[in-house]
Amino acid sequence: MAQQFDVIFIGAGPAGYIGAIRAAQLGMKVACVEEWRTPSGVPALGGTCLNVGCIPSKALLESSENFEKVTEKFSDHGIAVSGASFDLSRMMVRKQAIVDKMTKGIEFLFKKNKITWLQGHARLTGRGDAGWQLEVKSEKSTEAAEGRYIVIATGSKARHLPGVPVDNRIVCDNVGALSFADVPKRLGVIGAGVIGLELGSVWRRLGAKVTILEALPTFLGAADESVSKEAWKMFTKGQGLDIRLNVKIGKIETGKKGVTVPYEIDGKRETLEVDRLIVSIGRVPNTDDLGAENVGLKIDARGFIEVDDHCRTNLPNMFAIGDVVRGPMLAHKGEEEGVMVAELIAGQKPEINYDAIPWVIYTSPEIAWVGKTEQQLKTENVPYKLGQFPFSINGRALGQDETEGFVKVLAHARTDEILGVHIINAHASELVAEAVVAIEFRACSEDIGRITHAHPSLSEVMREAALAVDKRALNM
Ligand code: FAD
Ligand code: NAI
Repeated sequence: MAQQFDVIFIGAGPAGYIGAIRAAQLGMKVACVEEWRTPSGVPALGGTCLNVGCIPSKALLESSENFEKVTEKFSDHGIAVSGASFDLSRMMVRKQAIVDKMTKGIEFLFKKNKITWLQGHARLTGRGDAGWQLEVKSEKSTEAAEGRYIVIATGSKARHLPGVPVDNRIVCDNVGALSFADVPKRLGVIGAGVIGLELGSVWRRLGAKVTILEALPTFLGAADESVSKEAWKMFTKGQGLDIRLNVKIGKIETGKKGVTVPYEIDGKRETLEVDRLIVSIGRVPNTDDLGAENVGLKIDARGFIEVDDHCRTNLPNMFAIGDVVRGPMLAHKGEEEGVMVAELIAGQKPEINYDAIPWVIYTSPEIAWVGKTEQQLKTENVPYKLGQFPFSINGRALGQDETEGFVKVLAHARTDEILGVHIINAHASELVAEAVVAIEFRACSEDIGRITHAHPSLSEVMREAALAVDKRALNM
């Protein structure tokens, strides 16, 4: 006899587990199917984000940045540290402890909200009187479950290069790149996207010589051009990341000791010899063995489950959210979709403003933005005004020794509505929250300029950039 639920979420990453909690808050009987197991075989909630994505990468970024601060920045403060060293295994233990705390935290939240965790792999099998049917298969058993509503949140997996097997020892995707047992002397990275820059930075700070090969002729094309130009200078000349653009990768050879990557750049043939290689060329939606064909669920040519603006699939009472559907592959975007779908099922009328989803790249300095870039406004023929203000003359930034970068505010030329905010600074991930509120509430640059910002604080740079839109920055 199949277990019956009001709603079954498939996948307990940020999209699925947050959606499940919201549905339970709204009084539904909820189950969440999750098959993830840790390398030691323990079932775990949290998906890519908590286990091998956002959370472990940020732990290693922090540890490696601290090490670099001790060796390169503390002397400016008059602090002398001799013989600084690090213990990589301890860094990894700390990282894992954070991951475990977070994933166990979801287990606690599931119990608190009376959400049933069905452990195993879910496959859609058909439709019965009480709703959609699925089977949940684990090593031990196969169970049947039935949900009036189904929400698919099966996430994404790393895209691999054809003919280049990933063993996560020598050739790695995000999983292996977050768990190196030692620091490679020479590290190659394919793809100068978010993972390439974040994890490339981690291993460079810990001593690897990092070379990043990028297919596109432009660097960080999704970011505002002035930010990507600034970041390029900082990452290459400033920090020594060797990033090569406009590269065509040839046939990669892997041996016991390392990897040979032949590539073409500006019509010349070159070869990169490295001890380890990270392949970070994007992620693909995951619908592996989901049984989509059993129920007629539509999947597009790129492998995404087709959904409308409210995450409805082509089937009644079936939704899909997170990385497995269109839109940016970001944890917070998936979370918002989880909440929206739970509220829709409960009969509410939620909406997501996809234009107000922030992006953050956790390099040093961090890069964050929300809304349109200057190049997008030009392409769309939107008349705009621009205000920009540097951190180099902000008192708090000077005290913190984090004076790199700027805030750039783009506002509509006639209405003054803020259309985009772009930040490059050590604390950009936190500063961008003010810009998200401004865009969500359709604030004008004048609104930000008139709000009191604490002194001394980095947020004053946001205010000054907003004032600069009307050429009335106060401290410049
Ligand atoms: P996932 O987190 O991928 O979860 C899907 C879950 O579904 C998995 O646990 C999987 O086991 C399970 N599943 C799949 N199929 C089945 C099935 N048939 N039956 C049962 N279970 C199934 N995003 C950010 O916003 N900020 C960051 O800083 C950030 N850093 C990242 C760093 C790295 C290295 C990587 C790889 C990604 C990062 N991301 C970040 C992206 C973020 O991890 C994803 O956008 C997010 O995890 C997507 O959430 P999701 O719930 O859609 O899918
Ligand atoms: P990405 O899409 O950010 O970058 C991939 C890069 O690889 C692109 O610049 C692309 O041009 C390049 N590329 C593709 N094929 C190539 C080839 N054959 N040779 C050389 N270069 C090639 O993808 P990435 O870095 O793998 O990350 C995947 C996703 O995970 C991101 O898009 C993002 O959604 C998410 N993520 C988010 C983070 C954050 O929010 N801070 C951190 C890490 C990942």
